Amino acid sequence: MGAAFRLNAIIVGMTQSRALPDLTGQTLGTVTLLQKIGEGSMGVVYRAFQNTLSRPVAVKVVFRNKLNKLFTPERFRQEAEVVANLLHSNIITIFEFGEQPDFMYFVMQLVDGISLSQWLKQKKKHPLPRKRLPSLDDMIHLADQVLEVLSFAHKEGVVHRDIKPENLLWIERNRKVMVADFGLAAVYHTIYDEEKAFILGSPLYVSPEQARGEAVDGRADLFSFGCVLLELTLGFLPVKVERPERIFQTRAKESPDMFTGMAHDHSPAVPRIWSEFIARSLQAKREQRFTGAEQMLAQLRNLAPGLRALEAAGALEPPVFPPPYNGPTLPGANFPGRPAGTVPPGQPKKPGETGPGPSTGPAFTGS
Ligand SMILES: Nc1ncnc2c1ncn2[C@@H]1O[C@H](COP(=O)(O)OP(=O)(O)OP(=O)(O)O)[C@@H](O)[C@H]1O
Ligand SMILES: [Mg+2]
Repeated sequence: MGAAFRLNAIIVGMTQSRALPDLTGQTLGTVTLLQKIGEGSMGVVYRAFQNTLSRPVAVKVVFRNKLNKLFTPERFRQEAEVVANLLHSNIITIFEFGEQPDFMYFVMQLVDGISLSQWLKQKKKHPLPRKRLPSLDDMIHLADQVLEVLSFAHKEGVVHRDIKPENLLWIERNRKVMVADFGLAAVYHTIYDEEKAFILGSPLYVSPEQARGEAVDGRADLFSFGCVLLELTLGFLPVKVERPERIFQTRAKESPDMFTGMAHDHSPAVPRIWSEFIARSLQAKREQRFTGAEQMLAQLRNLAPGLRALEAAGALEPPVFPPPYNGPTLPGANFPGRPAGTVPPGQPKKPGETGPGPSTGPAFTGS
């Protein structure tokens, strides 16, 4: 964590984040918890062993005191039921739901992979000057699978509501992506309540309509997935780092500075068609996004051969991490240190533009 708050899964305001009890070694119903895998805003995920079927599983423990009061355990169970019936080879299967006095838990398929946030971190560890990002080919492959899943789930009437790198697990050996926590955010992710100054959710990936607390449809997932693709493409999400509630407010108001630019604005090495593809899913008004996951998938498949050919021909610069958050690029966006509408360092000037032009500043030396 490091910082005083964690941006991608956060509870602030009235709800205080406290250390969650360690349940390692405990047996819950048919499973014994062996080792903590990770921790989110609501609870802890463990590697576990299901004694009845002698198989490794994952168990997500959700503490009752972390639940939004609007959502009763009964509602939680109902939601789990819906998700358990969402059977797809790229969705983590839920095997069982159980309750204890202080917490509830799900037994689910154990994925032998890493989350996209861990994946990106690993990529960033590559030594300079080649700090490699995921290849376009990997991103296309990943996006194809995620959009298939979203298209399937949306048809079943289930919106994920919390698509973010932590909820997308990547299995490198077969380049498969598994989607976690489907629909669960509906139960515990209330977004921003100004009166109570209560935030629960993932401000970096939240869609404007979710930030306003409106009813959502599948296009909210497209927005969040657009954020993920933008982050994978650049190595960082081009938003100003500020207090999470500010990010919620910026999103809710559909402010033009929701992002400090699109992929191509920050890195000329990114093919423009890829940048535009992502940008369309990130439109503040959902009517201006793709009509649904199916349309976005069709467009991806249209673009894929051209993008892959560009990459295979070596036409693209190997992606290297630029310095993150290095300035605004949206017309009219005004941030300290850079005049409105100027291009960031390293970006060639277009005729008539008054931007600073190619960077003469120091090379990026770390993430
Ligand atoms: N079925 C699973 N198999 C393997 N690892 C998993 C599984 N489910 C979750 N994880 C890992 O456990 C970590 C914690 O997951 P968890 O859902 O509790 O938190 P989160 O996704 O970071 O945040 P949030 O609570 O907001 O959903 C994830 O980042 C993921 O890497
Ligand atoms: Mg999760």
